[in-house]
This record gives sequence, structure tokens and C-alpha cells, in this order.
Amino acid sequence: MDLNIHTIEDYNRIYDFSTKDPEGFWAAVADDYYWQKKWDKVLEWDFAKADIKWFQGAKLNITENCLDRHLEKDADKTAIIWEPNDPEEHFRKLSYKELHFKVCQFSHVLKNNGVKKGDRICLYMPMVPELAIAVLACARIGAIHSVVFGGFSAQSIADRINDAQCSLIITSDGGFRGSKEFPLKNIIDDALVQCRSVGKVIVLTRSRIPVSMIKGRDVWWEDEIRKVETHGNPDFPAEPMDAEDPLFILYTSGSTGKPKGVVHTCGGYMVYTGYTFKTVFQYQPNQIHFCTADIGWITGHSYIVYGPLSQGATTLMFEGIPTWPDAGRFWDIVDKYKVDIIYTAPTAIRSLMSFGDEPLKNKDLSSLKTLGSVGEPINEEAWHWYDQKIGKGKCPIVDTWWQTETGGIMISAIAGVTPLKPGYASLPIPGVQPILVDENGMEIEGNGVSGNLCIKFPWPGIIRTTYGDHERNRTNYFATYPNLYFTGDGCLRDQDGFYKITGRVDDVINVSGHRIGTAEVENAINMHADVIESAVVGYPHDIKGQGIYAFVILDVSLHDHELTKQDILQTVTRIIGAIAKPDKIQFVSGLPKTRSGKIMRRILRKISEKEFSSLGDTSTLLDPSVVEDIIQGAL
Ligand code: WT7
Repeated sequence: MDLNIHTIEDYNRIYDFSTKDPEGFWAAVADDYYWQKKWDKVLEWDFAKADIKWFQGAKLNITENCLDRHLEKDADKTAIIWEPNDPEEHFRKLSYKELHFKVCQFSHVLKNNGVKKGDRICLYMPMVPELAIAVLACARIGAIHSVVFGGFSAQSIADRINDAQCSLIITSDGGFRGSKEFPLKNIIDDALVQCRSVGKVIVLTRSRIPVSMIKGRDVWWEDEIRKVETHGNPDFPAEPMDAEDPLFILYTSGSTGKPKGVVHTCGGYMVYTGYTFKTVFQYQPNQIHFCTADIGWITGHSYIVYGPLSQGATTLMFEGIPTWPDAGRFWDIVDKYKVDIIYTAPTAIRSLMSFGDEPLKNKDLSSLKTLGSVGEPINEEAWHWYDQKIGKGKCPIVDTWWQTETGGIMISAIAGVTPLKPGYASLPIPGVQPILVDENGMEIEGNGVSGNLCIKFPWPGIIRTTYGDHERNRTNYFATYPNLYFTGDGCLRDQDGFYKITGRVDDVINVSGHRIGTAEVENAINMHADVIESAVVGYPHDIKGQGIYAFVILDVSLHDHELTKQDILQTVTRIIGAIAKPDKIQFVSGLPKTRSGKIMRRILRKISEKEFSSLGDTSTLLDPSVVEDIIQGAL
């Protein structure tokens, strides 16, 4: 059966097939990959136990699909284009042959440093090609990578290392982002004070900031490479992996204080990211794909590294930020490399919009074919700006809804195929079966309805477990509504059956497309010696989508509130990282609590939105008068 989608009729037909015979559909998709041994069974699943297994019995290595299988025809094709932070520094291009060579070389380095299949390896690196090389080398040797975004603090890294019991860290001396330089190795040194599982640290040279190298523990990337260079042909045989062996762990925030280690496995994740990459963006051979995310987030895993490389595409990796040296940087990159597909976040679009048309002057954007959006709802104003100013009204915009837990894109237009509606993720990808439910888990059928978004049938990219705590996976995603995967998002399905994601319905907030748990921020704020209690909510923010609003009760009547605010921001930066710093801190005398002591966040959310007249019923509060006080002091 021809699985290519060129028209909406194709989509309808294939979607139909994918729901009538999901196993037949995914087996046909999986046939496009290289398997050392094919599966015995396509799917086995039990949502009640959160047990899902795809392609059981199959053997594969994802790097053979991302590298080796392209060598015959596309050895000299560019796999990775790397654009440095500083436009004056020289860019790099790695062909498939070179990337294969470097991944094999670094696999030898890992092996020499004692890494074995199943070991957990933490990566804390800037956006340089060596990050992709390290990720792929872990996959090649069968080690489980856990990439931690370079903006997280030493404490956050330590928590993640300890949770996964990582044995080795890969980092760099420092990294560049915009005008800033980050001392990554120093931060790792701070983290490692708390981590006993780590025996080795491999340090790449990037910024040449001074670092301390601990004897017996820390080694330089370049020295280790030199040791394996003498081997001549570095080919490193890819470790045969079971389809359900873990490929990586990626930590993400939930409604509790502790981030969860989302686990994806080799077979299903490979099939799902490759399929969604080529289907959603309608990727054509020789196109250049520019995903602006950081590999520290799932978007970078799936649509910088694994998805594009498994399809033999050219993927562009950018070290810097959209606004440095000026707000025309993305467009310079598009122009310089003749980018075909750009995939970015609404927060970046809104931020660039605010600089007006000047940064777009003399930028040739005519190479662009498809525009992608991801991470948060895109408002109509940003959608139209993206469409008109960047796509010149000629490029389809794919608004892709998905999550760290889903591995790849779930609901999205298919470029050039699905009719577009600004603000709508639109229709499910073949193989994805969304449903809306009410508070009690009853399905809301028909069109023109809203509810909580769930998925009723597994897809190959679905989360397999939360590392070290399978029960947490079950209760988080599969227990709210029996026999459904619950996304945590609210959703509208319009008259035409098109889906619009309306935002989280749990205590997760989305700041500039980054997911932050309110409980995590509260825990961090509460670490400050003068804080008794705090409550954090998200509020609408023009650029970031959501900002962080903290209501804080202080211990004593301190005089210098401004200084205390700065101290609290420092504390949050230290405990989580600068991305979790509250935008607003309001000191309050009390918090709205029910008689059972539960904080009524609904009320705080309304106050943060300045909707003072629609607070709802406050009579059940322990002390309704605190609400009036909070309103008086609202920021
Ligand atoms: C949450 C997942 C998926 C990669 C980046 C974020 C929100 C994501 C959209 C979209 C509206 C979106 C949801 C989701 N979200 N994409 N196109 N429209 N909302 O991954 O950090 O796991 O966050 O991001 O609320 O649940 P993540």
C-alpha cells in the first residue's frame, strides 16, 4: 500500500487505514527502516498497567538507520550543517561519511572509558556538532543518554544524574549563547559534589575558559580521540538492541516537585520520529531542515537529530539565539544556507515580531517551503506575521502539537495537504487517535466541543516508563482516565473536526515553550530562608506565552522587599536555573486556602490575569479576607 500523502483524500484514506488496522499500518511504516532482525509481534499493550511494547523480537540499532544505511548512496551528502553562535566564526559541514566516522570514533572513546550497553550517560553541552556525535555514539554503543539542557543549574543536573545513576558525563569547558558565555564544566563540578555514581567526565574544548581537571576523573575529549586515532579505520559495530531497549531518558516537569525521566525506546521512537518528520514537513530529498530548538529538549532530539538523520536529510544546528548579534539572525541563516524548512517556537516568532520589519530587510527567504511551529499555542497575530513576513504567503505553516512523552508530532497539518486554520494544530497524524473527555472521563463526541485531550490507542513513540518508577508513569498518564493516555492539555474540536490546543489543565506552565512545574518553582522559592510559603501560577505574557507569577509569604516583616525579591530570584536560579525565575513576585500575608488547606490556584490565576470580578465562589475559603488583600497588592 502506498503510504505517501499528497492530497487530503490520501490523508483521509491512510488515516482510516491506520485506525482500522494500526498494526498493519505501523508495520508498513516500519518496513522502511533497516532492522538487524524483524519483529515477531507489532504491538502488545495494556494501558491499565502502562505497559506498551512495539516491534517485540526485533533487533536494530538506530544509528545504522541514521548513518550506515545512507553511506552507499549519500556518503558525501551533508548530514549536519553547524552555524556557530558568532557569525564571524567559520561554520562546519559534516557529510554522512564524516559523521559516521566521528560517531564510530567517539564510540571507541566511550568504550575505552568503560561505557557498556545500558549505562546511563549524562550530556551537558552547548549546541555544537559534538553534542549530536555524542548522542549518536551513546546510541551506537547501546548506552542510554540523558541530555540536560545547558540552562539548568548544578542542583538540577545533580538531581537528574542521581535519579538515573549516570556513570559518565560529557560536557565542554564552556559554551556561547548570544553575548553570554556559560562555564559548563564549572557547573558540572558543582553538581558532581553530590553525585557518587559518576566516575568519568569527558570535556570537549569549546570556549577555552579555564577549568579544573580532576586527576583520574576528568579527561579531554580531544586527548581521548587522539588515543583511538591510531586504530586506523574506526568502524565501531553497532550494538544490536532490542526494539524495547531504552534509547534515552529526558527529564521533564510535571505537577509534582520532581522532574520525571521520560524513557523512550529504540524501535518505536525511531519509526515514529522518522515517519512524522517526513510526513508532516513533506520533506523532499536534498532539502535543508532548520529546527531552531536546543538538543536539550525533545524537539531537538526528534527533529534535529533522529528524525532528519534517519531520513537522510540535511539538518542545520544553530549554536546561538534568534536575537544576537541582531534580530535578523534566523533570516541570515535561512539566506546563507538556503533553508527549505524552518521549525521554531511561537515565543521566538513573537519576540522577533517585536523588532518590526527592519531585521528582515535584504534577507532572501525565497528558499523556504515549509514553516513549523511547536511548543505552545500560536496566537493568530504571530501566525499571520510568520505567514506573511517569513513565508510571504506561500509556505504552509504546520502547527505541531506534541509532548516530551509522545516522542514525536501527534496533531498537525501535513504541509501543503491539510487546509490551514491559524491557531489550530488541525488533524491527527495517521496512527494517532485523539479523543476529548469530560471531567469524569466520558467521551465527548461530535464536533464543536471542548474537553480534556486524551489518546485512546498507542503509537510507536509513546512514553514507555518514567525512569526508575514505573508506577509514576502509570498514575501520571494512564490513571486519570481508565484506558486512555491523558495529555494534560485542554482542547477544542471545531465544526470541521479540527483540533485547537487551549493549554495545560494541570499545574504545568509553559514559559517560552519550556515546560515548568509550578510545584518545582514553589519548592525552589521555599528554600529561601525568609520564605514561609509560596504559590506559583502561570499568567498570560506577550512574548513568553506564559509568565511565572509567585505569591510569597515572608517570615518576618523585612524592610527591604526589593532585595528579598532579588534574593529569591537568585535562589530559584541556583536551584533550577534562570529559565524558572518568576517574572512577578508579590508578597502576601496569606494564601487563599480551603478549610482542608489546599491552595485555590484558580483564584490566584484569576488575580494574575487581573480578572478580579470573576473570581468565583470564595465562601469556601478558610479566610476569604486574604483575597481582598491579594487583589490590593496585585502586580
Ligand atoms: C506541552 C508539551 C513538543 C515539543 C515541545 C514541548 C504544549 C506543544 C503545542 C502546540 C499548543 C503545544 C502543550 C504540551 N504544546 N506544542 N503546537 N500548540 N500547545 O514539549 O516540554 O513536553 O511540552 O507543550 O501544552 O502538553 P514539552
